[in-house]
Amino acid sequence: MKLLEVRNLKKYFPIKQGFLIERVVGFVKAVDDVSFSVDRGKTIGIVGESGCGKTTIGKAIIRLHEITDGEILIDGEDTTFYFMRRKRAAEYLKSRYFENEAFTGRANGLEPFEKKINDVYLNAGKSSSRAMSALFENLDEKRRYLRRKAQIVFQDPMSSLNPRMTVGQMLTEPLLFHKIAKDLDEAIEMVRELLVQVGLKAYHVDRYPHQFSGGQRQRIAVARAISVNPDLIVLDEPTSALDVSVQAQIVTLFDKLQQQLNAGYVFISHNLALVRFICQTVSVMYLGRIVEQGESEAIFSNPLHPYTKALLAAAPIPDPNKKRNRKDLIGGQVPSPINRPTGCFFHPRCKYRMDICTREYPPMFKVDEKHLVACHLYSTSQEQGGEKK
Ligand SMILES: Nc1ncnc2c1ncn2[C@@H]1O[C@H](COP(=O)(O)OP(=O)(O)O)[C@@H](O)[C@H]1O
Ligand SMILES: [Mg+2]
Repeated sequence: MKLLEVRNLKKYFPIKQGFLIERVVGFVKAVDDVSFSVDRGKTIGIVGESGCGKTTIGKAIIRLHEITDGEILIDGEDTTFYFMRRKRAAEYLKSRYFENEAFTGRANGLEPFEKKINDVYLNAGKSSSRAMSALFENLDEKRRYLRRKAQIVFQDPMSSLNPRMTVGQMLTEPLLFHKIAKDLDEAIEMVRELLVQVGLKAYHVDRYPHQFSGGQRQRIAVARAISVNPDLIVLDEPTSALDVSVQAQIVTLFDKLQQQLNAGYVFISHNLALVRFICQTVSVMYLGRIVEQGESEAIFSNPLHPYTKALLAAAPIPDPNKKRNRKDLIGGQVPSPINRPTGCFFHPRCKYRMDICTREYPPMFKVDEKHLVACHLYSTSQEQGGEKK
């Protein structure tokens, strides 16, 4: 079973205008129909230029954002409605399950997570309102569980740590909240161990964030994330604010912790060399959508989308004898996610563009089992049926 499965995720931010009476005049389509998954102990990389929606995906996964549409499954449970307001959650459950012909009419062919909810429905005597009450019953507990199981580490440790709290105060809080430690003394003892585990010193417990270096601060953020034994950690450009030598140490730390926790990582980065080094699978994003997706090796050794080729061509090459592949480089800026180009969003910057590219957004084509690409150049490959509904 997948640890995390994101299906057709959308996150639109409304653009409001007006002073006393606000009107919604449009949407920033920050994430628009994105699907991917990650297994326990594995790392998926999410790459793309600044503004393409990477952080929004990370925040949606751990529900710092309410999602606009789509599904988020964790350990085979549909967690999509966990953090919605009650009314919206009820609407979601109705349209996804209880009033959905395809769902209620079908006993066979349901996916495991659908079957679970179907069982609740049958137990409730096929009453959708009773089934919903059953699903809402221990929602607080489920939320707390999810808050614990999915953690995030942000790019800038200074802004994610509270400057007025000591490391001890900051790190004991989640331990007490989630009842991992029974009292403050035990929590402090655990924090001291955690600090050692992430390569700091036990006596750092009484220091404030400003008394540490950037790399050390990121270690504190990591200690806070792992303190609650998460299964899933979103790492949002966790090393981009650090010196190169410190980056390597932090990456080594992530690797060690992943083995200890058997956690799944969503590694958000624009450092392609790093992604190639640590991720088993990769999704390349452009303007809120995934344009290429698959196993790291397949994508890095044989990039297909002109945008992926451009990213790779622009990445620094560690070998001085190797020449940069200049023909794949692109110019121009990422267009605005408010006013996106027609057809393929990448076509204004693409030198391989064809007529169709200006008119139709390409579906995901399956080049082989390990490699998907959304580009008309590959339309002779099989169109992928599974992921899109
Ligand atoms: N809270 C928000 N309100 C409105 N727009 C947002 C908000 N957060 C992000 N955006 C917009 O969504 C798009 C994607 O942002 P983000 O996910 O931060 O990109 P990335 O992390 O890839 O740089 C950007 O255009 C950004 O301006
Ligand atoms: Mg970001």
